[in-house]
Amino acid sequence: MEIVILEDAAEIGRVGADAFTDLLGRRPQAVLGLATGSSPLSVYDELVRRHEQGGVSFAQARAFTLDEYVGLPKDHPERYRNVIDRDFVDRVDFAPDAVRGPDGSAEDIPAACEEYEAAIAEAGGVDLQILGIGTDGHIAFNEPGSSLASRTRIKTLTRQTRIDNARFFGDDVDAVPTHCLTQGLATIMAARHVMLVATGSGKAEAVHHMAEGAVSAMWPATILQHHPHVTVLLDPAAAGRL
Ligand code: GLP
Repeated sequence: MEIVILEDAAEIGRVGADAFTDLLGRRPQAVLGLATGSSPLSVYDELVRRHEQGGVSFAQARAFTLDEYVGLPKDHPERYRNVIDRDFVDRVDFAPDAVRGPDGSAEDIPAACEEYEAAIAEAGGVDLQILGIGTDGHIAFNEPGSSLASRTRIKTLTRQTRIDNARFFGDDVDAVPTHCLTQGLATIMAARHVMLVATGSGKAEAVHHMAEGAVSAMWPATILQHHPHVTVLLDPAAAGRL
Protein backbone atom coordinates (compact mmCIF):
# COMPACT_ATOMS: atom_id res chain seq x y z
CA MET A 1 0.00 0.00 0.00
CA GLU A 2 1.54 3.25 -1.13
CA ILE A 3 0.44 6.12 1.12
CA VAL A 4 0.85 9.64 -0.22
CA ILE A 5 0.14 12.58 2.09
CA LEU A 6 -0.65 15.71 0.12
CA GLU A 7 -1.27 19.28 1.11
CA ASP A 8 -4.95 19.57 0.30
CA ALA A 9 -7.82 18.34 -1.88
CA ALA A 10 -6.58 20.30 -4.89
CA GLU A 11 -3.24 18.49 -4.83
CA ILE A 12 -5.04 15.17 -4.31
CA GLY A 13 -7.09 16.06 -7.39
CA ARG A 14 -3.97 16.59 -9.48
CA VAL A 15 -2.16 13.44 -8.35
CA GLY A 16 -5.34 11.36 -8.65
CA ALA A 17 -6.08 12.75 -12.12
CA ASP A 18 -2.51 11.89 -13.19
CA ALA A 19 -3.24 8.19 -12.63
CA PHE A 20 -6.32 8.36 -14.89
CA THR A 21 -4.60 10.54 -17.50
CA ASP A 22 -1.56 8.23 -17.68
CA LEU A 23 -3.73 5.12 -17.95
CA LEU A 24 -5.97 6.57 -20.68
CA GLY A 25 -2.88 7.83 -22.54
CA ARG A 26 -1.51 4.28 -22.63
CA ARG A 27 -4.85 2.54 -23.01
CA PRO A 28 -7.69 4.75 -24.30
CA GLN A 29 -10.15 1.85 -24.00
CA ALA A 30 -9.37 1.33 -20.28
CA VAL A 31 -12.04 0.15 -17.85
CA LEU A 32 -12.50 2.60 -14.99
CA GLY A 33 -14.13 2.09 -11.60
CA LEU A 34 -15.99 5.18 -10.42
CA ALA A 35 -17.13 6.05 -6.90
CA THR A 36 -19.70 8.51 -5.64
CA GLY A 37 -19.20 10.58 -2.50
CA SER A 38 -17.35 13.78 -1.81
CA SER A 39 -13.86 12.21 -1.62
CA PRO A 40 -13.26 11.68 -5.38
CA LEU A 41 -14.68 15.08 -6.39
CA SER A 42 -11.35 16.88 -6.58
CA VAL A 43 -10.06 14.15 -8.92
CA TYR A 44 -13.18 14.37 -11.10
CA ASP A 45 -12.99 18.18 -11.22
CA GLU A 46 -9.36 18.04 -12.29
CA LEU A 47 -10.16 15.43 -14.97
CA VAL A 48 -12.99 17.61 -16.31
CA ARG A 49 -10.59 20.57 -16.46
CA ARG A 50 -8.00 18.51 -18.35
CA HIS A 51 -10.67 17.14 -20.67
CA GLU A 52 -11.87 20.66 -21.50
CA GLN A 53 -8.29 21.55 -22.39
CA GLY A 54 -7.99 18.49 -24.65
CA GLY A 55 -5.66 16.70 -22.25
CA VAL A 56 -7.70 13.54 -21.71
CA SER A 57 -10.54 11.73 -23.45
CA PHE A 58 -12.95 9.09 -22.16
CA ALA A 59 -14.50 8.46 -25.58
CA GLN A 60 -13.21 4.89 -25.82
CA ALA A 61 -13.23 4.10 -22.08
CA ARG A 62 -15.81 2.18 -20.14
CA ALA A 63 -16.70 2.55 -16.48
CA PHE A 64 -18.50 0.72 -13.69
CA THR A 65 -19.81 2.36 -10.55
CA LEU A 66 -19.49 0.77 -7.13
CA ASP A 67 -22.89 0.91 -5.54
CA GLU A 68 -26.49 2.10 -5.64
CA TYR A 69 -29.36 2.68 -3.23
CA VAL A 70 -32.29 0.28 -3.47
CA GLY A 71 -35.71 1.73 -4.10
CA LEU A 72 -35.02 5.32 -5.13
CA PRO A 73 -37.03 6.40 -8.21
CA LYS A 74 -34.98 6.69 -11.42
CA ASP A 75 -35.15 10.49 -11.38
CA HIS A 76 -34.26 10.91 -7.68
CA PRO A 77 -31.33 13.36 -7.48
CA GLU A 78 -29.53 11.22 -4.88
CA ARG A 79 -29.70 8.01 -6.87
CA TYR A 80 -25.99 7.24 -7.23
CA ARG A 81 -26.28 6.85 -10.99
CA ASN A 82 -27.66 10.41 -11.20
CA VAL A 83 -25.01 11.67 -8.78
CA ILE A 84 -22.08 10.26 -10.77
CA ASP A 85 -23.59 11.54 -14.04
CA ARG A 86 -23.88 15.03 -12.55
CA ASP A 87 -20.50 15.00 -10.79
CA PHE A 88 -18.46 13.51 -13.61
CA VAL A 89 -19.85 11.38 -16.44
CA ASP A 90 -21.95 14.05 -18.15
CA ARG A 91 -19.08 16.55 -17.90
CA VAL A 92 -16.70 14.51 -20.08
CA ASP A 93 -17.03 12.53 -23.31
CA PHE A 94 -18.00 8.97 -22.36
CA ALA A 95 -19.91 7.21 -25.16
CA PRO A 96 -23.59 6.52 -24.49
CA ASP A 97 -23.98 3.33 -22.41
CA ALA A 98 -20.25 3.24 -21.62
CA VAL A 99 -20.95 3.69 -17.92
CA ARG A 100 -22.89 1.09 -15.96
CA GLY A 101 -23.99 0.81 -12.35
CA PRO A 102 -25.79 -1.81 -10.28
CA ASP A 103 -29.56 -1.61 -10.88
CA GLY A 104 -31.14 -0.68 -7.56
CA SER A 105 -34.63 -0.81 -9.02
CA ALA A 106 -34.36 -4.31 -10.54
CA GLU A 107 -37.24 -6.66 -9.76
CA ASP A 108 -34.90 -9.62 -9.45
CA ILE A 109 -32.08 -8.23 -7.33
CA PRO A 110 -29.89 -11.37 -7.15
CA ALA A 111 -30.08 -11.72 -10.96
CA ALA A 112 -29.17 -8.05 -11.42
CA CYS A 113 -26.14 -8.51 -9.14
CA GLU A 114 -24.97 -11.58 -11.04
CA GLU A 115 -25.45 -9.78 -14.34
CA TYR A 116 -23.40 -6.84 -13.07
CA GLU A 117 -20.50 -9.09 -12.08
CA ALA A 118 -20.69 -10.74 -15.51
CA ALA A 119 -20.61 -7.36 -17.26
CA ILE A 120 -17.46 -6.33 -15.37
CA ALA A 121 -15.80 -9.65 -16.21
CA GLU A 122 -16.85 -9.39 -19.86
CA ALA A 123 -15.25 -5.93 -20.06
CA GLY A 124 -11.98 -7.55 -18.95
CA GLY A 125 -12.10 -6.29 -15.34
CA VAL A 126 -11.42 -2.84 -13.91
CA ASP A 127 -8.04 -1.26 -14.65
CA LEU A 128 -8.24 1.63 -12.17
CA GLN A 129 -10.74 1.86 -9.32
CA ILE A 130 -11.14 5.08 -7.35
CA LEU A 131 -12.52 4.66 -3.82
CA GLY A 132 -13.57 6.71 -0.83
CA ILE A 133 -13.81 5.30 2.69
CA GLY A 134 -16.63 5.53 5.23
CA THR A 135 -16.02 6.72 8.80
CA ASP A 136 -16.58 3.11 9.91
CA GLY A 137 -14.06 1.78 7.40
CA HIS A 138 -16.53 0.71 4.73
CA ILE A 139 -15.62 0.80 1.05
CA ALA A 140 -18.40 1.08 -1.52
CA PHE A 141 -21.26 -0.05 0.77
CA ASN A 142 -19.41 -2.98 2.29
CA GLU A 143 -20.25 -2.22 5.88
CA PRO A 144 -18.44 -3.71 8.91
CA GLY A 145 -19.09 -7.45 8.98
CA SER A 146 -19.07 -7.80 5.18
CA SER A 147 -17.49 -10.97 3.91
CA LEU A 148 -13.97 -10.36 2.70
CA ALA A 149 -14.81 -12.66 -0.24
CA SER A 150 -18.08 -10.90 -1.14
CA ARG A 151 -19.30 -10.10 -4.64
CA THR A 152 -22.02 -7.68 -5.80
CA ARG A 153 -25.09 -8.17 -3.60
CA ILE A 154 -27.78 -6.40 -1.59
CA LYS A 155 -26.77 -5.02 1.82
CA THR A 156 -28.46 -3.26 4.72
CA LEU A 157 -26.98 0.15 5.47
CA THR A 158 -25.78 0.73 9.01
CA ARG A 159 -27.38 3.44 11.12
CA GLN A 160 -24.04 5.33 11.08
CA THR A 161 -23.86 5.40 7.27
CA ARG A 162 -27.47 6.53 7.05
CA ILE A 163 -26.67 9.32 9.55
CA ASP A 164 -23.52 10.23 7.54
CA ASN A 165 -25.55 10.37 4.32
CA ALA A 166 -28.62 12.15 5.74
CA ARG A 167 -27.05 15.44 4.65
CA PHE A 168 -28.00 14.51 1.09
CA PHE A 169 -31.60 13.81 2.11
CA GLY A 170 -32.52 17.10 3.79
CA ASP A 171 -30.87 16.00 7.07
CA ASP A 172 -33.64 13.42 7.47
CA VAL A 173 -32.14 10.02 8.40
CA ASP A 174 -35.47 8.34 7.74
CA ALA A 175 -35.39 9.53 4.13
CA VAL A 176 -32.11 7.66 3.51
CA PRO A 177 -32.81 4.24 1.95
CA THR A 178 -32.24 1.24 4.21
CA HIS A 179 -30.71 -1.01 1.54
CA CYS A 180 -28.22 -0.81 -1.28
CA LEU A 181 -26.55 -2.88 -3.96
CA THR A 182 -22.80 -2.85 -3.75
CA GLN A 183 -19.80 -4.42 -5.42
CA GLY A 184 -18.33 -6.84 -2.93
CA LEU A 185 -14.88 -6.67 -1.39
CA ALA A 186 -13.66 -9.41 -3.75
CA THR A 187 -15.07 -7.47 -6.70
CA ILE A 188 -13.10 -4.39 -5.67
CA MET A 189 -9.99 -6.46 -4.98
CA ALA A 190 -10.07 -7.71 -8.58
CA ALA A 191 -9.35 -4.20 -9.92
CA ARG A 192 -5.78 -3.99 -11.15
CA HIS A 193 -5.02 -0.66 -9.44
CA VAL A 194 -7.00 0.78 -6.52
CA MET A 195 -6.72 4.44 -5.60
CA LEU A 196 -8.35 5.40 -2.29
CA VAL A 197 -8.89 9.05 -1.43
CA ALA A 198 -9.64 10.36 2.09
CA THR A 199 -9.70 13.88 3.48
CA GLY A 200 -10.53 15.38 6.85
CA SER A 201 -10.09 14.27 10.45
CA GLY A 202 -13.38 12.37 10.36
CA LYS A 203 -11.64 9.71 8.24
CA ALA A 204 -8.47 9.49 10.36
CA GLU A 205 -9.55 6.51 12.46
CA ALA A 206 -10.75 4.53 9.43
CA VAL A 207 -7.50 5.32 7.58
CA HIS A 208 -5.47 4.23 10.62
CA HIS A 209 -7.27 0.85 10.73
CA MET A 210 -7.04 0.41 6.96
CA ALA A 211 -3.29 0.91 6.87
CA GLU A 212 -2.13 -0.25 10.30
CA GLY A 213 -4.87 -2.44 11.76
CA ALA A 214 -5.33 -6.20 11.53
CA VAL A 215 -7.21 -7.37 8.44
CA SER A 216 -10.77 -7.86 9.61
CA ALA A 217 -14.30 -7.83 8.26
CA MET A 218 -15.05 -5.33 11.05
CA TRP A 219 -12.90 -2.76 9.18
CA PRO A 220 -13.66 -3.75 5.58
CA ALA A 221 -11.04 -1.45 3.99
CA THR A 222 -8.29 -3.50 5.71
CA ILE A 223 -8.72 -6.10 2.92
CA LEU A 224 -6.79 -3.64 0.72
CA GLN A 225 -3.63 -4.65 2.63
CA HIS A 226 -3.80 -7.83 0.52
CA HIS A 227 -3.96 -5.94 -2.79
CA PRO A 228 -0.70 -5.70 -4.76
CA HIS A 229 -1.28 -2.18 -6.12
CA VAL A 230 -3.07 0.31 -3.87
CA THR A 231 -2.39 4.04 -3.79
CA VAL A 232 -3.83 6.01 -0.86
CA LEU A 233 -4.10 9.78 -1.27
CA LEU A 234 -4.60 11.62 2.02
CA ASP A 235 -4.63 15.15 3.30
CA PRO A 236 -2.77 15.75 6.59
CA ALA A 237 -5.99 15.55 8.65
CA ALA A 238 -6.97 12.15 7.26
CA ALA A 239 -3.38 10.98 7.93
CA GLY A 240 -3.54 12.34 11.49
CA ARG A 241 -3.64 8.93 13.19
CA LEU A 242 -0.94 7.19 11.18
C1 GLP B 1 -20.84 6.34 0.86
C2 GLP B 1 -20.42 5.60 -0.40
C3 GLP B 1 -18.96 5.23 -0.37
C4 GLP B 1 -18.14 6.44 0.04
C5 GLP B 1 -18.53 6.89 1.42
C6 GLP B 1 -17.74 8.11 1.88
O1 GLP B 1 -21.22 5.49 1.88
N1 GLP B 1 -21.19 4.42 -0.64
O2 GLP B 1 -18.57 4.77 -1.65
O3 GLP B 1 -16.78 6.12 0.00
O4 GLP B 1 -19.89 7.25 1.37
O5 GLP B 1 -18.28 9.26 1.32
P1 GLP B 1 -17.54 10.65 1.28
O6 GLP B 1 -16.47 10.50 0.27
O7 GLP B 1 -18.60 11.62 0.84
O8 GLP B 1 -17.05 10.90 2.63
